[in-house]
Amino acid sequence: MVNVNPAVEHDVKDLALTSGGVDRIEWAAREMPVLRLIREHFERDKPLKGLRIAACLHVTTETANLMITLQAGGAEIALCASNPLSTQDDVAAALVLRYNIPVYAVRGEDDARYYSHIHSVLANQPQLTMDDGADLVAVLHKERRDILDSIIGGTEETTTGVIRLQAMARAGALGYPIIAVNEALTKHLFDNRYGTGQSTIDGITRATNVLWAAKHVVVAGYGWCGKGVAMRARGLGSRVIVTEVDPIRALEAAMDGHEVMTMDQAARLGDIFITLTGDTNVLDRQHFDAMKDGAIVANSGHFNVEINIPALSAMSESRKRAREHVEEFRLMDGHRVFLLGEGRLINLAAAEGHPASVMDMSFANQALAAQYLASRDERLPVDVHIVPTEIDKEVANLKLRSMGIEIDELTEEQQRYLSSWEEGT
Ligand SMILES: NC(=O)c1ccc[n+]([C@@H]2O[C@H](COP(=O)([O-])OP(=O)(O)OC[C@H]3O[C@@H](n4cnc5c(N)ncnc54)[C@H](O)[C@@H]3O)[C@@H](O)[C@H]2O)c1
Repeated sequence: MVNVNPAVEHDVKDLALTSGGVDRIEWAAREMPVLRLIREHFERDKPLKGLRIAACLHVTTETANLMITLQAGGAEIALCASNPLSTQDDVAAALVLRYNIPVYAVRGEDDARYYSHIHSVLANQPQLTMDDGADLVAVLHKERRDILDSIIGGTEETTTGVIRLQAMARAGALGYPIIAVNEALTKHLFDNRYGTGQSTIDGITRATNVLWAAKHVVVAGYGWCGKGVAMRARGLGSRVIVTEVDPIRALEAAMDGHEVMTMDQAARLGDIFITLTGDTNVLDRQHFDAMKDGAIVANSGHFNVEINIPALSAMSESRKRAREHVEEFRLMDGHRVFLLGEGRLINLAAAEGHPASVMDMSFANQALAAQYLASRDERLPVDVHIVPTEIDKEVANLKLRSMGIEIDELTEEQQRYLSSWEEGT
């Protein structure tokens, strides 16, 4: 039993989970040296003093370390979940009870509670928003326009969120500037590729305990996430098939040595299907129809729209829980399709999300982007901005230093050579 009265408002599953959450937050911190350095500097200089931040992120041990860093910088934070199934309840409890951070997130919450939690963090009258998928920004623009003027800016963590925000900017609907953290090279080249690559395989393995060797694994989407998953599945001995709609990415997949074909063709061959496109109905009625008995389908893209679950459900004569995170759909002709994690991001639904070491860089970008927005004399123009190159390079340098890796510097002669055009053959 927990007999301490939390000092902050919250809606979490169970405060008695706090001590396990604290242990896991500290475990993740060991692998987050860049964020640790930023935290030390934040503690000293308080660059976010008094800044009210509303954050809508996956409530994981890594996010907890970001929240603690922002708090060390003087920010007043409120946190809600960016996905109903990604919250780690022990982490949510620990943030409330140990770190006095208001958290509104319960794993498995329904849509009504999910959105009421977004409203709870907005009630904090934020001056800065931190989003992962742009649900917070969308609710703010639709239902809380009264607080738009007091917001200096926001940050966005993922590809899907950036695409939504760019659409808002094009339509003239965006009310304040956003820094697209996803676009930092030290974010998507590592987090999307190595983080999603490893943790998606981890999520599917934990959910099913399948052997990957010799399986036909169909990866839909050869973006940064898809490349990571394809690379790791191949490393485990799978035969990887890639589906794409972009000819350049399809060519890249083919030259990386993967089979490339349409989903109509791949549907008949795959043992495991993984969508990472940010698109809708990538796995649809005709694909479920064509799949082998026992095919496994999972999504690791941001929203649960990549697999047409309503169609799968309508085509099935029965559905039942096969084991935790696995639902069996029996189609009318008797063949079975196994859906993992309700079609939500499988690495967060069935595993722990990205390893801390890679989130170290993504969240270092978040913390430094918040500092950048807070320290400006004037608000940035309203648009979706890329992370300033200096921040990207600083994160890479700090990470290299933490790994004990030194790199060469250009000599003066080399600098002159690389900036001149006169010297040729
Ligand atoms: N699981 C996680 O933890 C995690 C982490 C980072 C990003 N994401 C999400 O994963 C998704 C992909 O991110 P990314 O950075 O790789 O994006 P990306 O834009 O680099 O790649 C997406 C790819 O999907 C392709 N695509 C689109 N529609 C398709 C279709 N119908 N069939 C086949 N391919 C199609 C696009 O051409 C593109 O190459 C996004 O929703 C992103 O928000 C998830």
